[in-house]
Amino acid sequence: MSTSQIDFTSPVPLTNLHRDPATAALLMCPPTLYDVNYVINPWMAGNVHASSRVRAIEQWKHLYEAVSQVAEVLLIDPQPGSPDMVFTANAGLERNGIVVISSFLHPERQDEEPHFRRWFEQAGYTLVDIPRSTPFEGEGDALFSTDGTRLWVGYGPRTLMSSHRALERIWNVEVASLHLIDPRFYHLDTCFAPLEGGYIMYFPDAFDDASVEAIEAFYPPEKRIVVSEIDAACFVCNAINIDRTVIVNRVSRELGAQLGSLGFNVVQVALSEFLKAGGAAKCLVMKLSAREAWAKAGNYNPSARTAS
Ligand code: ARG
Repeated sequence: MSTSQIDFTSPVPLTNLHRDPATAALLMCPPTLYDVNYVINPWMAGNVHASSRVRAIEQWKHLYEAVSQVAEVLLIDPQPGSPDMVFTANAGLERNGIVVISSFLHPERQDEEPHFRRWFEQAGYTLVDIPRSTPFEGEGDALFSTDGTRLWVGYGPRTLMSSHRALERIWNVEVASLHLIDPRFYHLDTCFAPLEGGYIMYFPDAFDDASVEAIEAFYPPEKRIVVSEIDAACFVCNAINIDRTVIVNRVSRELGAQLGSLGFNVVQVALSEFLKAGGAAKCLVMKLSAREAWAKAGNYNPSARTAS
């Protein structure tokens, strides 16, 4: 589907979902109701109503076009009163057909939860709830290593550490907690990006010492891509990585060359209007596993709908 064919008022019919069971999909939400309406992170300060919706739609379409080259894109309708719903990475965390629905820390985003819940229910996923008392902000704060053996989960600004044990039980996966200490990098996906080939692109100063040690114990030196503060502040770690394609807002010449030499094809899509809300490329998509993988998965209890 080309962007000119997108009907921004209605989602892709559910019957069209997962056309090819082997293809991973990305969930996106058109920015027709996007705005910066409140301040819940440092990027939003001074930017209330300062983004251009026209430019945001243009930029989002460019991102949609870029990701459509490498993945199937599914859409959810935007909802009045939920301007941050464009950041679908925060809807929850999905793996093998199970979705842990986010429990947002800030009341400003809690109205998004039932809309995402309904979309996943209708699409046939198994849903798991995280209690309100243990905030969890989905794929924004929880990222699997590309080999799937470890789930890295951020905590501090948004997600609480108490949610991490529940995640461990749901997928029977090793969870490693990473403490985020810089308010600019309030979600894990703003400063940490596992890349295909077992690489990790990260901004060490966003983490406390113990977390940097945990990252470096898992990823050997030749697999670490350390980014500068300038690149990090341009949201380079907020990267969409599908196979060898890496899509980012912006990358420095040096880092672009380093990624290129490692075999990555780096695509830059300007996303200035979304940076005003504290998000960029990766925040605007949620990765969904291929339906084929659901069938193979046998390591969970589908009757456990509520994590305690
Ligand atoms: N304004 C949104 C918030 O503060 C931005 C979310 C960005 N999403 C992400 N996955 N980092 O919650």
